[in-house]
Amino acid sequence: MITAQQKQQKLGSGFGALSTADDVLTGTDLTGTTALVTGGYSGLGLATTRALVRAGAHVVVPARRPETAENALRDIPRTEVHALDLADPESIRVFSERFIETGRSLDLLINGAGVMACPETRVGPGWEAHFAVNHLGHFALTHRLRPAFAPVGARVVAVASSGHFLSDIRWTDPHFRTGYDRWLAYAQSKTANALFALHLDRLGAAQDLHAFAVHPGSILTPLQRHIPREEWLAQGWVTPDGTPAAGFKTPEQGAATAVWAATSPLPAERGGAYCQDCDIAEPATTDDMLIGGVKPWALDPDAAARLWDLSCELTGLNAF
Ligand SMILES: NC(=O)c1ccc[n+]([C@@H]2O[C@H](COP(=O)([O-])OP(=O)(O)OC[C@H]3O[C@@H](n4cnc5c(N)ncnc54)[C@H](OP(=O)(O)O)[C@@H]3O)[C@@H](O)[C@H]2O)c1
Repeated sequence: MITAQQKQQKLGSGFGALSTADDVLTGTDLTGTTALVTGGYSGLGLATTRALVRAGAHVVVPARRPETAENALRDIPRTEVHALDLADPESIRVFSERFIETGRSLDLLINGAGVMACPETRVGPGWEAHFAVNHLGHFALTHRLRPAFAPVGARVVAVASSGHFLSDIRWTDPHFRTGYDRWLAYAQSKTANALFALHLDRLGAAQDLHAFAVHPGSILTPLQRHIPREEWLAQGWVTPDGTPAAGFKTPEQGAATAVWAATSPLPAERGGAYCQDCDIAEPATTDDMLIGGVKPWALDPDAAARLWDLSCELTGLNAF
């Protein structure tokens, strides 16, 4: 069996940082496929939904603001919106049970919703919001939807980030009870996304369910809503006239890696891998998040199993 580290070698997909989700899907017919894209009505998620629909898929879009989602998707056929708040375990249960009651099977689950660098926020039993929404909410959703996964070839994509460079899982204080830092909170949740995909792939392989983590690149979207404009400039995200900095992608380019990981036959034997620029990401050799790659703590199978156990304990779910 190849290790998580050995999996992180490029495959030579023929696509790259500039490829769009439509490029990746050229020649792919997703007719008859059902996909579920969390956050599929904003930013990268919206671009993902559009591309999957253009390739023939039916896309279910759960939304914490259903009316906004309906408006965003109004002109896109084969989409449907249902209420879901990933910060609310009861909402996840209700949404998932309704989906399962329809009897449909789920081919692709793209866990793309997320929050970034928000002010300290507690949800549910006092959980830190990034960890709760970006990780635990998707963990619970994937568990709840387990009976619906297609028996052959189902894939789950966890939209992670090179933001994971800044933090491993804070095992002794995952909920930041001893001092909050919004960037570390985001970073921990993105490491959690990568570890989630790693362990889900391990557990799901027996039922032909595979999982991947992806870094979409850097893209200006509503994700940055909590960051003051001066900080955008200071971080080098925009030029003084507000233009995205060199190296930033469009939402269509940002959606490409998730779509590639969800649909390409190429990474089929590399389940659990962390992907970037429409290929498997190489281990990170610098701390430059624009260059990206993957840090060792996001590939550690023991940490992935430990996080899985912690998440089962916190959510009370253990379906795999
Ligand atoms: N943009 C980047 O540069 C970048 C880089 C690396 C990774 N990523 C990752 O890419 C993913 C998508 O980001 P984006 O840039 O497309 O941001 P976005 O446009 O802000 O989209 C995020 C989506 O998540 C939804 N969401 C937030 N909290 C939720 C909750 N409690 N329940 C249900 N849905 C919730 C948002 O809903 P509302 O609109 O209703 O708030 C929105 O639809 C995120 O996981 C992010 O971490 C983005």
